[in-house]
Amino acid sequence: MDRIRIVGGRKLNGTIPISGAKNATLPLMIASLLTDETLVLDNVPRLADVALLQRILGNHGVDVMVPGKRPGDSPLDGQTLHISAKRIVDTTAPYELVSKMRASFWVFAPLVARMGEARVSLPGGCAIGTRPVDLLIMALENLGAEIEIEGGYVVARAKKGLKGGEIRFPKVTVGGTHTALMGAALANGTTVIENAAREPEIGDVADCLNKMGAKISGAGTSRIVVEGVARLNGARHSVLPDRIETGTYAMAVAMAGGDVLLEGARPELLQSALDVLTQAGATVAATNNGIRVARNGAGINPVEVTTAPFPGFATDLQAQLMALMSKAKGTSHITETIFENRFMHVQELARLGARITLNGETATIHGVDRLRGAPVMATDLRASVSLVIAALAADGETTVNRVYHLDRGFERLEDKLGRCGAAIERVTG
Ligand code: UD1
Repeated sequence: MDRIRIVGGRKLNGTIPISGAKNATLPLMIASLLTDETLVLDNVPRLADVALLQRILGNHGVDVMVPGKRPGDSPLDGQTLHISAKRIVDTTAPYELVSKMRASFWVFAPLVARMGEARVSLPGGCAIGTRPVDLLIMALENLGAEIEIEGGYVVARAKKGLKGGEIRFPKVTVGGTHTALMGAALANGTTVIENAAREPEIGDVADCLNKMGAKISGAGTSRIVVEGVARLNGARHSVLPDRIETGTYAMAVAMAGGDVLLEGARPELLQSALDVLTQAGATVAATNNGIRVARNGAGINPVEVTTAPFPGFATDLQAQLMALMSKAKGTSHITETIFENRFMHVQELARLGARITLNGETATIHGVDRLRGAPVMATDLRASVSLVIAALAADGETTVNRVYHLDRGFERLEDKLGRCGAAIERVTG
């Protein structure tokens, strides 16, 4: 298994191109199931999760075509996928596939909407705690699907198609909102989604669905109205930049020091994280082609942060911020309100010398002057990258094991950081 080796203490200077967002790419690929025409997606990141979803969609009969290299292409450019679900041959998503990637459960909605039935394995638990799908099921029930749980599978039927309805989420859920949107797009009648997630990836999927002929308004607000249409067509859509990748590299620069342009990043996608970085002592400036982040000389100030649904501080940046605060000049508090048990990185950061105590959903981080390199490993994607951030500012060598977590969500991480001066390499085998 690959490992990443980092020797800390180098500043970061240069440019990091920001890839297309993983969390938009996955539902966009899944939306291809809603039409028998081809959906073309540009700016798709090269990630293990994207490759896995290609396989999962292939099992339903979807063809994914990736054009070969063109003159002038850079390995850091996004890829283009031509996705065609002309004939869906199988409406079952088996446990072996769904258990590898939770978001693949979302095929449930377009399969029922287009085919009138779906049989999708329940995903099971995951490293960041229990992650139920009750609200996704509720959304489709409100659109008229009949749902049963049989042998670990959710079986949904809507033989006469889905019907528009009202979906009021008791809790903000990204997956629930994607499910509601995809189901309602092909339902008969109008659907109103209340307390919808406002994450930018929801807006991106809604934009693409509208290009495909859907009638969605209000995406990006907490009330979305969808007028169902009888069929959707093909379209071409470019994936929006990854705000979590942006925030992660911004924190890496704040941690290591230096001056980096995050090329293609859009500040409005992560304003709350940029505000926290400014409080922490980094200089953050929007430019015409991205966001510049710098920290020269000044120390890191402690902060108080609580994760929240968008536009609040993203749970997917919580571990990275904790790594940064481990070297702050004082005590910080970070409260995690979205996922229980999303603190698996705490013990690994402690191996590098961080002083963190947990009390329920709040972590207290006592900043230390020095971190020291060590072998570490992590159990999820964002936790793994928090260890990379800590390692950039630790004395000596850190080895991050189980790199496959990083490859799920960060494209060419060692390449992007290495080009800015980090001493980082992948050790294969
Ligand atoms: C998505 C993101 C993930 C991010 C999360 C929160 C993708 C592929 N993943 O995950 O990176 O961390 O949003 O921003 O886009 N919940 C229920 N019942 C449900 C569904 C969710 O109780 O049926 C709860 C969850 O346990 C959690 C909260 O709702 O406490 C938010 O989860 P949700 O927004 O649904 O997360 P995901 O869509 O799985």
